[in-house]
Amino acid sequence: MTDPTVPAASYSDTVVRQFSLAAVLWGVVGMLVGVFIAAQLAWPELNFGIPWLSYGRLRPLHTNAVIFAFGGCALFATSYYVVQRTSHVPLFAPKLAAFSFWGWQAVIVAAAISLPLGYTTSKEYAELEWPIDILITLVWVSYAIVFFGTLGKRKVKHIYVANWFFGAFILAVALLHVVNSAEVPAGWMKSYSAYAGVQDAMVQWWYGHNAVGFFLTAGFLGMMYYFIPKQAERPIYSYRLSIVHFWALIFTYMWAGPHHLHYTALPDWTQSLGMVFSLILLAPSWGGMINGIMTLSGAWHKLRDDPVLRFLIVSLSFYGMSTFEGPMMSVKTVNALSHYTDWTIGHVHSGALGWVGLITMGSLYYLIPRLFGQKKMYSVPAIELHFWISTLGIVLYIAAMWIAGVMQGLMWRAVNADGTLTYTFVESVKATYPFYVIRVLGGLMYLVGMLVMAWNTWMTVINGRAVRVTVPAVAAAHA
Ligand code: HEM
Ligand code: HEM
Repeated sequence: MTDPTVPAASYSDTVVRQFSLAAVLWGVVGMLVGVFIAAQLAWPELNFGIPWLSYGRLRPLHTNAVIFAFGGCALFATSYYVVQRTSHVPLFAPKLAAFSFWGWQAVIVAAAISLPLGYTTSKEYAELEWPIDILITLVWVSYAIVFFGTLGKRKVKHIYVANWFFGAFILAVALLHVVNSAEVPAGWMKSYSAYAGVQDAMVQWWYGHNAVGFFLTAGFLGMMYYFIPKQAERPIYSYRLSIVHFWALIFTYMWAGPHHLHYTALPDWTQSLGMVFSLILLAPSWGGMINGIMTLSGAWHKLRDDPVLRFLIVSLSFYGMSTFEGPMMSVKTVNALSHYTDWTIGHVHSGALGWVGLITMGSLYYLIPRLFGQKKMYSVPAIELHFWISTLGIVLYIAAMWIAGVMQGLMWRAVNADGTLTYTFVESVKATYPFYVIRVLGGLMYLVGMLVMAWNTWMTVINGRAVRVTVPAVAAAHA
């Protein structure tokens, strides 16, 4: 996939380096906030009575930091890297690429300040107020110009499938952002949505579900299609399957949003349509998972001693798990039990920690040494430690939330023979308490893994610098 005739130095990698390091940094920050709010749910007095430390303000800070800062920076880094290698040309408009880096960091900083101060549109995953929305649009248009411009000047005839996924992610997110953020400003940091009532809810969850489908899935599938074959040193299992996977996934995701609005004022047929498309979604999702995992056929032994490959492959098993669970939860009768409970939170984090987190970490472990002139990361045992501690952390987190969720759903619907409720709501909160503590523990383990990665990254960068400085010095001494 990489053209040996193109010298590495001619690629525009500064922006890839910047985004990769930013992804690690924001990963630590976003997960730290995640652990903090998880602890607040177990011990509410941890908000210390300070408004900007309150749960309601920090929760969107967590979701924005992990999705858009950690995930977003990783997507920028990998897409800029992959599109150059698979097109055999450096980035189109590198100055615009630099703007996309600094502009995106400005969005993140603006979010980190405005959300704790209480500024929010109150639309989930689209909380940022209108001036920040405009900056996001400018950054995203620059990103699209750089990415598609690079594809446009490619030296190879065909477009490698990873770029199809990255391209779809960029286009879909542009569409989602512009439509869902349509709002009427009513002050510098205050706006009202252009939609009202149930239309507002439908547009929001068309956006919300496709944020999952395109931001948290399609872009990361782009990573999968490049980094798994590279790390495994095998071609992708089936190129034909990857094309079917692409079109089926892209077509189906757009229709599934109403499963977030079961049993609401949304017309019933719309809810059923969302449910049917969610069930269909299982097929392309598993097609993609199988394509990724089967790329290892004939090379399974590599899993035994390559922790980077293990990150990449285990991420796919979590992808398979959450895309089995999602369609199941979209069935109305199942959703009647799961909705509003911690089951949803368990589903979210099996996708987020297991799929998004692990595929990102595996891809960054491939990328970082190469970007800093090293053959591998500074410490391979540290990658091994990271893998085990984060996998165990995920299992603790999601198992606790599944048990808590099903228990809450069952307690809320239990009725006595005379028709009165068997449990009060407070009783269900009390019963959930131990599971919230287990979640803190699981989240803490995941965060410690991320800190190990940050240390390993730092050492790799320092080592890379040292090599770059000492090699010419040694050469000069021998001259
Ligand atoms: C150390 C790791 C993490 C911890 C401890 C953690 C903890 C939490 C907590 C406590 C909530 C609020 C749950 C509630 O309101 O009941 C939450 C929500 C959420 N988190 Fe995390 N999180 C972590 C990592 C991540 C990552 C890496 C992602 C994404 C890549 C993510 C995505 C989300 C999303 C999307 C929600 C909102 C879920 C919903 O509204 O249904 N989290 N997280
Ligand atoms: C075939 C694929 C999938 C389907 C059909 C699906 C379906 C669902 C359903 C039915 C819900 C519960 C809605 C509710 O009761 O409120 C849900 C919630 C959610 N799912 Fe999935 N899911 C899928 C894959 C994924 C993946 C891979 C991720 C993460 C990477 C993910 C992230 C989320 C998030 C963040 C929410 C919570 C949204 C919110 O209420 O804030 N899903 N999903």
